[in-house]
Amino acid sequence: MNSAEKTIEWIKTSSTDGFSRMIDQTIIPYEYKKVDIKSSEEMYDAIKTMIVRGAPAIGIAGAHGVVLGAIENINSANFVEDVKKVADYLNSSRPTAVNLNWALKKQIEVLENNKEKTNSEIIELLVENAIKLEDEDIQINKKIGEYGSEIIPKGATILTHCNAGALATVGWGTALGVVRSAFEKDKTIKVFADETRPRGQGARLTTYELTRDGIDTTLITDGMGAYFMNKKMIDVVVVGADRIALNGDSANKIGTYMVAIAAKYHNIPFYIAAPKSTIDPTIKTGDEIVIELRNKEEVTIVNDKPICTDKVNVINPSFDVTPNELITGIITEYGIFKPNEIYKLFG
Ligand code: MRU
Repeated sequence: MNSAEKTIEWIKTSSTDGFSRMIDQTIIPYEYKKVDIKSSEEMYDAIKTMIVRGAPAIGIAGAHGVVLGAIENINSANFVEDVKKVADYLNSSRPTAVNLNWALKKQIEVLENNKEKTNSEIIELLVENAIKLEDEDIQINKKIGEYGSEIIPKGATILTHCNAGALATVGWGTALGVVRSAFEKDKTIKVFADETRPRGQGARLTTYELTRDGIDTTLITDGMGAYFMNKKMIDVVVVGADRIALNGDSANKIGTYMVAIAAKYHNIPFYIAAPKSTIDPTIKTGDEIVIELRNKEEVTIVNDKPICTDKVNVINPSFDVTPNELITGIITEYGIFKPNEIYKLFG
């Protein structure tokens, strides 16, 4: 992976044909491999099994999935309705990250606004729109990085949770975009990365990305953050988000809430870095965010071996909601907002 490479991209084989190529995030850091997704069903599975993961990246995966659905229905007499059904199906793959729903809606707008065109012409427009969304994602992350780098003190150590990096987006990253932009100005910054059980996105993906960029990175387990805050070894926390309510309550990977509480106790600023597309203008507070429950094996099986008795109960929520009062600011492509002012982005 190099910084110019896209985590997910549409490979055009003709104006009305192609496939989605993505980095397989389930096997990093053991293997670095790209997979080609050639049907809407394969795309549903890629999102569900987290071959592609991270809110902005699954948004783009959804946009590609709609194109694949359109190609599958090229001869349909009810083309627009049939492709919308594919969008609904893709939307049901993972419920929490609103970017998926946002990108699907962007593709549905293309369908709705071009009903009079031929199926092939509409497919061409869906492809163009998907590629535009890919390119915009990188530009947006660069802007988030620029704004965010302003709040990183010289020589700071930044704690992050999960992976909100290039791998979670098309490129550059949101929280790790802030780190990357800060590192361009100050080579002495450091990162502490939470392991992020149960899927280990921090251990497997964040450390992989950052060390490849030459950024000084220390891996800690999820229970260690408060200890290092108490030892004054953390200056600022920056994480991503999967869905932000209009009052600034922010859903992110399970464990983020605990980090925010610890940061508040130790008077350490806690920032969310996310694009406008992660804000859900239809919900007022975080209570309305649907939290994905994943299978118990993610918790009980490590390296193909059970780590506990099968008599134990297991519950595996994939995200939690950090209340707005624990958030210092939300870094977006439009600047940094107090959480209770984020609604202003919607006029
Ligand atoms: O379950 P995941 O790996 O998709 O969860 C990802 C996160 O929680 C990220 O922090 C979030 O999507 C922001 S990515 C820029």
